[in-house]
Amino acid sequence: MAVNNPTFNLDHLANEVKSDVIAWRRHLHQHPELSFQEEKTAQYVYETLVSFGNMEISRPTKTSVLARLIGPNEGRVLAIRADMDALPIQEETSYEFASANPGVMHACGHDGHTAMLLGTAKVLSGLKEEIKGEVRFIFQHAEELFPGGAQELVEAGVMDGVDNVIGIHLLSHLEVGKVGVAYGPMMASPDTFHITVKGKGGHAAYPHQTVDSIAIAAQVVTNLQHIVSRNTDPIDNLVVSVTQFAGGTAHNIIPGSVELCGTVRSFDPSLRQSMPGKMERIIKGITDAHDASYEFRYEFGYRQVINDHEVTKVIEETVREVYGEDALQLMRPTMGGEDFSAYQQVSPGVFFNVGAGNVEEGITYPHHHSHFAIDERALDIGVKLFLHASFKILK
Ligand code: NI
Repeated sequence: MAVNNPTFNLDHLANEVKSDVIAWRRHLHQHPELSFQEEKTAQYVYETLVSFGNMEISRPTKTSVLARLIGPNEGRVLAIRADMDALPIQEETSYEFASANPGVMHACGHDGHTAMLLGTAKVLSGLKEEIKGEVRFIFQHAEELFPGGAQELVEAGVMDGVDNVIGIHLLSHLEVGKVGVAYGPMMASPDTFHITVKGKGGHAAYPHQTVDSIAIAAQVVTNLQHIVSRNTDPIDNLVVSVTQFAGGTAHNIIPGSVELCGTVRSFDPSLRQSMPGKMERIIKGITDAHDASYEFRYEFGYRQVINDHEVTKVIEETVREVYGEDALQLMRPTMGGEDFSAYQQVSPGVFFNVGAGNVEEGITYPHHHSHFAIDERALDIGVKLFLHASFKILK
């Protein structure tokens, strides 16, 4: 069983920090900062952690915070991660705690992640004597912007000696009260690419005197989809999306070049490694065939989020025990990406979702939307899951 030791009751302790967690979340929401610029956020988190006592607190990078809660008895080390960055979006909600920073908004719920981890740290810091081993709280910067804060923190040593790592993402398309858990592959690797198709510009009335970069680039776009539909095992998941197609200035000018960019999402590491070669063969073939040339750049992004079976099972059991069978939602993988994967390269871990949507109250806007919102009851659910899971994992 999880749960409540005769000497303390985690649910009661979590209830005592409920209003703090909401207040922290609203403060952070009102003062969002962009990736790699979370200076005030990190300072706020640092000072809040200091006020709890009992922890070793440090700043591994300029805009991140690490707190170590080391119990009196030796044991395992559990890391819990929250990301803290906001997005370049002008908030359009009417909350009194809406963003006071024009053009910047917590539109993905990272304010909630930070507040939940602060609440967890507050409760656990008061239970220091009960901790067997260590709980390490990672307040990470820059999840939204490649190369991401996670890898930087791993390199700074925050995962040294960690046995397991867990993290939550709130989800507005999952109803509050539900907890989403996925075994194995959960999120894809989000790679990016840039292609320049170089033709020869000229008058639109005399196409034979040009090398039409628009017509050629259009064929490149079409043929890239053949990698997905014809060159890849249908059982393997793969997305190739061309998301930008830029060229030309007027109706009567054939432009000399076209710029394309987009993303490739996959789960299988060897398929992923083969993608730059597969794409370049097509780009080269088509541009050669039409007397054009090209430039091609492929950048590997975050790695796949792959949840460890044993740790995922602990979370699944915790959800069942604390919230009952109905709360548990086994999730399908998504082609979204997350730099939580950087921690999972070091230690087995699980990333899971806490529902924060509420259809009746109209809290249904997608993440990264100017009206994005969360049902704040999700925060308490997240704190309780972190608390119960911590004791189960360290037991
Ligand atoms: Ni996010």
